[in-house]
Amino acid sequence: MAPPVRNQTFAKPERRRRAAPRRREGGWRQEVERVLITEAQIARRIRVMARDIERDFRDREMVVVSLLNGTVMFLADLIRHLNLPLRLDFMGVSSYGLGTESGELIFTKELRLDVRGRDVLLVDDILDTGKTMSRVLPKIQALQPRRLKICVMLDKPSRRIEKIEADYVGFKIPDFFVVGYGLDFAERYRNLPFVGVLHPPAYKQARQPVGRK
Ligand code: IMP
Ligand code: MG
Repeated sequence: MAPPVRNQTFAKPERRRRAAPRRREGGWRQEVERVLITEAQIARRIRVMARDIERDFRDREMVVVSLLNGTVMFLADLIRHLNLPLRLDFMGVSSYGLGTESGELIFTKELRLDVRGRDVLLVDDILDTGKTMSRVLPKIQALQPRRLKICVMLDKPSRRIEKIEADYVGFKIPDFFVVGYGLDFAERYRNLPFVGVLHPPAYKQARQPVGRK
C-alpha cells in the first residue's frame, strides 16, 4: 500500500481559537412541545402509501406535481419508494396570512411539464381548510390531465372549509398546529425529522405575515 501523502506545504494548524458565540445547542427544539408522529412511523406509512400508488398508477407514466415548499421531505421519501416511471414538477403557492392561518393565495411558480392526457399525482404536505387545494385543482384540471389524484402526508379533517378529500393520506391528525418533516412555522422547523406539535407560546408571540410554504 502506498504511504500516506504528507502535504508539506501546509503550515501546522494554529492552536484552536476560542469558539465564536453560538446559539444554545438544540434550544429551538424545545419550542416543540411533543412528537406527534415519529420518524419510524412516517417511514413505515410511506412504504404502504407508495405500494397503493404503484398499484393505481402502474399502467402509464405518471407526472408527480408537488407543491412547494412543505412537501420537500415527504416527496423525496415517497418517490424513492415508487417503482414506476415518473416525471416530477413543482408548483409554487404562497399565502400571505398570519403564521398559522392561510391567507390570500398567490402562485409563485407554474408547472413546466405538459400534463395534458397524463396521469397526475398532486402531492401536498397537509390538507387543512382545503383552500389551497381548491385553488390548485381547477388550475391543473384546466390543463386536461387524464387522471388527477391527490396525495397528502397529513389531513386535518376537522378544519375543512372546502369540500375536498385526498385520495392518499399518510395520517389523519386532530386540530394541532404541527411542524417538522417539511412543515414550517414562519419558515422554521422544516428540518425536524418527525412531526411535532409546536408549543403554543412559540407561535403566539410570533404572529406576523409569512409565506405559506
Ligand atoms: P389549507 O389551504 O388550509 O388546506 O392549508 C394548506 C397549507 O397550510 C399547507 O400546505 C401548509 O403549508 C399550511 N398548514 C396548514 N396546517 C398546518 C400546520 O399544522 N402546520 C404547518 N403548516 C400548516
Ligand atoms: Mg407552511
